[in-house]
Amino acid sequence: MRIGKHEVPYPLIQGGMAVRISGHRLAGNVARCGGIGLIASAGIALNAPSFTGDNYFTVEPQALKDELAKAYEIAPDGVIGTNCMVAVTDYAELIKASCEGGAKLIVSGAGLPLNLPGLTADWPDVALVPIVSSVKAAELIARKWHKAFNRLPDAVVVEDPDTAGGHLGDKLENIGTGQYDQYATVRGVKDYFRDIWDLDIPIIAAGGVWDRADVQNALQQGADGVQMGTRFVCTEECDAADAFKQAYLDCKEEDIGLLMSPAGLPGRALVANIEAIRERDLKMTPTCPTGCLRKCSYKSEGERFCVVHALDRAQRGDIETGLVFCGTNAWKATRIETVAEIFDELFPG
Ligand SMILES: Cc1cc2nc3c(=O)[nH]c(=O)nc-3n(C[C@H](O)[C@H](O)[C@H](O)COP(=O)(O)O)c2cc1C
Repeated sequence: MRIGKHEVPYPLIQGGMAVRISGHRLAGNVARCGGIGLIASAGIALNAPSFTGDNYFTVEPQALKDELAKAYEIAPDGVIGTNCMVAVTDYAELIKASCEGGAKLIVSGAGLPLNLPGLTADWPDVALVPIVSSVKAAELIARKWHKAFNRLPDAVVVEDPDTAGGHLGDKLENIGTGQYDQYATVRGVKDYFRDIWDLDIPIIAAGGVWDRADVQNALQQGADGVQMGTRFVCTEECDAADAFKQAYLDCKEEDIGLLMSPAGLPGRALVANIEAIRERDLKMTPTCPTGCLRKCSYKSEGERFCVVHALDRAQRGDIETGLVFCGTNAWKATRIETVAEIFDELFPG
């Protein structure tokens, strides 16, 4: 699969997973195995050695660069990129840090990345990949990028709100109703770029892809590649604490649900402890400590909980009051495997 100037043997992107679920170890090892590895940038300051509690925005860009450097130690020639969420306050700084740190691509969603090419103008070789959940969103991005920056996406990730983990790109009440058709959207985005822009870019299906049959199905249905998140959590190389991985191994299908994130987007996670997360934050951190999200109901109204700190706690192994994001397939995890084993299963021979 080729995205912009960068080519990999296998049509697979390991999705960015914050906070630090996909750090340098996971991304580096996926890249070493021949896929594209993504480091999730959101909240990466929180677990950086130089973070003191009140220097979040100073530390965050360097923490991302450090993580990229460590990933390239694992896969010096690999294709490694970052995932940047439009919704975070320091989006522009994280995009710049991605480019300066050697990211070969930036995959960006959780909002429409309408200004992304402007932020990367000095680094034309960095491939730009928006995440969308509708043809309309892809059209908006393409029109704006072309008009303002004379640039078009190098690939597009189409994320399925009915199956993917983390923040989702549809209204809460629409998710799981059966009205969304993932592969119709994939083909719609493909046709749009072909018909309107005469452009054959990879369209990548994200959400609900677990095994070889799922990859083959995605390719048969018109996707050029897949982005997978949940499957890579229960790997030796995943950067989360063992307790986070154990939560996946222990969970049942009915434990996976939807919540409304303070970021104003729905999210998919293990939902049994949402009240415990909220109680903890209302008691121990009643006001927003960092302002990491541009719009956040926790920051503005003291509502719900701090999503970035809750994700960070889970990453460190506090699954009682931490938020464990996951896709609908998390219950399928039965053992800790290696990234290489997953690649062998998905792409034998
Ligand atoms: C623990 C976790 C954290 C995630 N964090 C992010 C994130 O920070 N940014 C993002 O764009 N997507 C995030 N996602 C979505 C994944 O990158 C991926 O697109 C999605 O999970 C694919 O579906 P799958 O998990 O069924 O493979 C996250 C997913 C999980 C499971």
